[in-house]
Amino acid sequence: MLAILGAMDEEIELLLADLHSHEELHFPGVTLHRGELGGVPVLITKAGIGKVNAAMTTTYLLMQGASQVIFTGVAGGVHPELRVGDIVISTDCVQHDVDVRALDYPLGTVPGESPAWPADEALRAAAVVAAQEVGGVHVLSGRVASGDQFIASREGVQRLWTTFGAACAEMEGAAVAQVCAKAGVPFVVIRSISDTADHDANVDYRTFMPLVAQHAKQVVRGMLARLAPAAG
Ligand code: ADE
Repeated sequence: MLAILGAMDEEIELLLADLHSHEELHFPGVTLHRGELGGVPVLITKAGIGKVNAAMTTTYLLMQGASQVIFTGVAGGVHPELRVGDIVISTDCVQHDVDVRALDYPLGTVPGESPAWPADEALRAAAVVAAQEVGGVHVLSGRVASGDQFIASREGVQRLWTTFGAACAEMEGAAVAQVCAKAGVPFVVIRSISDTADHDANVDYRTFMPLVAQHAKQVVRGMLARLAPAAG
């Protein structure tokens, strides 16, 4: 079963509108929507914002039989070439706010765990092709940096770029990746750029988020056709 999650209503409501044979599964703090999207059996859900919500929701999805996970939503662009509306497909995910340097672990490394969680190659390739079909936007494969922070300063962008080589900043992807990696379940993160994470990020985010969320939805729909045999 293919699972699709986003952090906010705007990120999943476009997909829910197309869901057939819609059935709700209720868990503490989370509602999973089970049905068929483009003929593919799926679980769709809103995780809520931040890494804790993302990890908890991913756990529920895996326990309901998710065998592939796609996170879709918006992000702040960190790579200098990215503009509002562009799309980032994850090569891997890191947690930029993990800091155990006092115990000699590199910045971003959870002790005893991988410093970065790579996305599944097949999901990634399908996402890139589907993203290119959106047209008129730049599609970049790159590192997704997650943390429980909304990045809205030039210094913040610079830190993520120089320390982690991040393509974009968001608040959930690496938590989904960490849970999926523990379960051996393939995942990919698809992010449309809503802002460039600098001093105008809050204004740009509010202005563009609902619009660019459309791009992420288009990518997911484009992927479904390609993934159909594996996802069932
Ligand atoms: N999601 C969208 N824009 C973001 C930003 N600038 N920082 C963190 N998460 C985001």
